[in-house]
Amino acid sequence: MPLSDAPKAHPADVMKKLVALCKNRGFVFQSSEIYGGLKSAYDYGPLGAELKRNLMGEWWRDMVTTRENVVGIDASIIMHPNVWRASGHAAGFADPLVDCKVSKERFRADKAPRPNPGDPLPITCADKGVAKDWAERIAKDFGVELERDGNVLNGLKCISATEFGFFPKGATAPAKTWTFRGYVGPTFGCPFLTDEKQFNLMFRTSLGPVDQMGDIAAAITELTAAPDLAAAVRARFGRAADEGVLAKALEGNDRARIIRAVMEHLSQAALAYLRPETAQAMFVQFKNVLESSGQKPPFGIAQMGKSFRNEVTVEHFIFRSCEFEQMEMEFFCEPGTQAEWMRFWKEARMAWWTRFANYPADFKFRQHAKDEMAFYADDCYDVEYKYPWGWGELEGIASRTDYDLSQHEKHSGVTLQYVDQEKADPKTGAKPWKYKPYVIEPAAGATRAVLCFLLDAYHEEERTTATGEKEMRTVLKLHPRLAPIKAAVLPLVKKDGMPEKAREIIAALLKAGINAKYDEKAAIGKRYAKHDEIGTPWCLTVDGQTLTDGTVTLRDRDTTQQVRVAIPDVVAQIKSRLEG
Ligand code: GAP
Repeated sequence: MPLSDAPKAHPADVMKKLVALCKNRGFVFQSSEIYGGLKSAYDYGPLGAELKRNLMGEWWRDMVTTRENVVGIDASIIMHPNVWRASGHAAGFADPLVDCKVSKERFRADKAPRPNPGDPLPITCADKGVAKDWAERIAKDFGVELERDGNVLNGLKCISATEFGFFPKGATAPAKTWTFRGYVGPTFGCPFLTDEKQFNLMFRTSLGPVDQMGDIAAAITELTAAPDLAAAVRARFGRAADEGVLAKALEGNDRARIIRAVMEHLSQAALAYLRPETAQAMFVQFKNVLESSGQKPPFGIAQMGKSFRNEVTVEHFIFRSCEFEQMEMEFFCEPGTQAEWMRFWKEARMAWWTRFANYPADFKFRQHAKDEMAFYADDCYDVEYKYPWGWGELEGIASRTDYDLSQHEKHSGVTLQYVDQEKADPKTGAKPWKYKPYVIEPAAGATRAVLCFLLDAYHEEERTTATGEKEMRTVLKLHPRLAPIKAAVLPLVKKDGMPEKAREIIAALLKAGINAKYDEKAAIGKRYAKHDEIGTPWCLTVDGQTLTDGTVTLRDRDTTQQVRVAIPDVVAQIKSRLEG
């Protein structure tokens, strides 16, 4: 049951508090923390691993095992490099990046703010001290004295789409001008920028145990010793020098570019990538699954698992990291039925998200505008969540037409179609109808979902203790099916046979496949508080009465209400609450 129909008001500093709770209680740790840590990857601790597994298990149950027309696969992370050429990731997954020469901020050129001709270009620094430093740097590197107003540096102005200049106070003509890239740094508004550089978001690796570096170094040494580098490259690579990266570099006759292209060319033979999405395996294995599973359109192939992206910015804890997990499904349907299936999957996916939420109002759809969608998509929605920093993506649901199957057909030379013997081709009127299915793709982030449900669950509440005092408690109101530990069994004291009774109850719960924990450390109130904070939905306490009438108290995490339950009924009670 949702807690409220209204959106959630996150407690102040919720991200800071949640990150601390995740570390202290063993949900999520920074990767390699004892070596200084990586900001781009995270490790899931004992409770986080359970939470993530429960969440992904719920997705698999909802998308695969409870549906007749969806099957699951578990594909390799390393796929043939041509997969990424066909999918467009090898070329299109590269973002143009720019560095700010003053602040050193690195950002995506295509997402940067674009001032208009005539607009002033104030540089807004973090504070007055930074403004002083940057003003000095700009004076030294660019020869102009910007006017300081608190933390803002004034005097620069956009002149045209390709030029900006320095206008001393009151001047109508610029004292100095520079080439304008058309945009400014997003955080500080600075227009002093480097050239754009292409970055590929895919992680490269090489297949095979042979160290390629040695071969590449030998080739470069030999080629660079030649009097004419371009001629030496042509002589060594023959026809290969007339195509691809080599041909492009040779056109320009730039030494550094040619050497770079030679290195690139020599590394191609063993080049492999870590998958940047789980989706492509479902297209690449479409034919095998179709032929082996007995499925026919409309049907889906689902997969969940790790994906890797060399993200420009990693942010908001596990919201965006370089290694993360996805839960994706490709639903193959007859061309012309995609709008109907889009409606179906939108509804199914929103029902799934809100089923586990305390605040369903924090989930919404956002339809993509035409210019935001990939050129081949005919519709696309994001499921968005209201994070503490605003609405953001949780899942994309895209109508991808037959683009992916067509691309893989073209690049692999293998026909990827369905032959429907029962139906006539709508164009010719003749049977069979051979078509490439259209695809609806619900693509969700699993690790991002962990963050979303932790935020939805995190509560700080004032409560009155048994002795009438007011106290604050932190409670993770995780849906019981997601909660890492389902029940804690607590002997009130460590004597009088209470621990033994508690052990009996634990054994019965574990035997029934329910993740339960025995806990006898600290006073009972402290143990309740700890289990509230890690989201354990029920605490079972063995007390004095247990020893006389064979009942325990069952305490509900969210209401803190307690009822007495007979020990033989405990497993059934917990099971029915979990299923309810
Ligand atoms: N096959 C389509 C696809 O991968 P996407 O929108 O790039 O689409 C789907 O990714 C989901 O994966 C996103 O909605 C998000 O939840 C998650 N995701 C993407 N990049 C991520 C990252 N760097 N860190 C964490 N989650 C990410």
